[in-house]
Amino acid sequence: MFTIGIVKESKKGETRVSATPDTVKKFIAMGFDVLVESDAGSLSLISDADFKNVGAKIVDRKKAFGADCVCKVSCPDESEIKLLKDSAVLIGSIDPFLNLKSMKSLAVKNITALAMEFLPRISRAQSMDSLSSQSNIAGYKAVLLGADHLGQIFPMMTTAAGTLSPARVVILGAGVAGLQAIATARRLGARVEVSDIRPETKEEVESLGGKFIEVDSEEDNSAEGGYAKQVSKEFLAKQREVLTERISVSNCVISTALVPGKKAPVLITKDMVEKMKPGSVIVDMAAANGGNCELTKPGSTVSHKGVSILGPENIPALVPLHSSTVYAKNILNLITHMMDKDEKSIKVDSKDEIVGPMMVSADGNIVEERIKNAMEEGK
Ligand code: NAI
Repeated sequence: MFTIGIVKESKKGETRVSATPDTVKKFIAMGFDVLVESDAGSLSLISDADFKNVGAKIVDRKKAFGADCVCKVSCPDESEIKLLKDSAVLIGSIDPFLNLKSMKSLAVKNITALAMEFLPRISRAQSMDSLSSQSNIAGYKAVLLGADHLGQIFPMMTTAAGTLSPARVVILGAGVAGLQAIATARRLGARVEVSDIRPETKEEVESLGGKFIEVDSEEDNSAEGGYAKQVSKEFLAKQREVLTERISVSNCVISTALVPGKKAPVLITKDMVEKMKPGSVIVDMAAANGGNCELTKPGSTVSHKGVSILGPENIPALVPLHSSTVYAKNILNLITHMMDKDEKSIKVDSKDEIVGPMMVSADGNIVEERIKNAMEEGK
């Protein structure tokens, strides 16, 4: 019988798991055997008994990693790659650009590795899109982190003791996380201003009640697939000038700006932080990709002249139950898409419109062009 392995994540701070009792139940109904590593779901509040009750086999680490298809949240480390069986399929948010060495080891081990990050952003694949499912939750939680660190409340409040004015929030980047951050900050009653370099985001920002921050430029910064390009030095200088003014009167900044495969753009310099009001807060959601603020320290909170700069590296892990619930659904939908009904196994088809672009390694080689190039450059 084809086996699916659900393993306990070992990366520091990772609390999520790649399956829930609901998705395991569906895998079993599809004819798979599900091997769940003991304790895999505990940090997501899912016990071994919860998995066992729906038909999973609770096994040790070696057995779970030895399955035909192993599902993970983050990239496996070297010791975990060693536990994978030759020619197994690995599915996970393996972040290939940040883990080139592991990609090489996966190829050497003959693993067919599928990166959730490389799933194409097309309508048919939306239910499998973990970047979106996790960014949505992260955008919400980042606003709560900001609100929690602020010495004032977000909404306007009229009380017998006087009226408190609403907080001013600036959001950098209006992708999935940024749009959810706008909606959350608005729900909490803040005034929200937003900067993005893709002109098409203006309408989305305004429909959520945010004010779009215009940068006077003719430059087209939209790339393929709805993503952003890396902006020119001239554009960045203009953007920083406008942002300096908007940020200096704000109370909270949520920064989410990313360009695929590149280091995050530095939109807030040290000088800009020094112009902010003491007590203000920056939540830098781009921390794991180098940060949108020059002073961000990934994984830490920095205080600079009274401004707190939070650099959380894994916000979805702060909301493990719901992050795991939607991540597990993404994995289930992907495996359902790859299911070979006659063989009761999965078929990784390099010609498939959804699966093809996700393949990083197969048959002992790196098959993803950008990763191949990045490895060449790094040599
Ligand atoms: P992302 O996480 O790659 O980037 C976040 C945001 O940062 C983007 O909006 C980007 O334009 C912005 N950004 C980059 N450089 C910036 C700068 N210098 N200043 C300000 N902002 C900057 O983006 P995400 O959330 O992954 O979304 C990318 C696109 O994919 C969006 O257009 C989204 O609508 C689209 N999408 C499509 C889906 C589909 O299935 N059709 C599903 C999910 C997203």
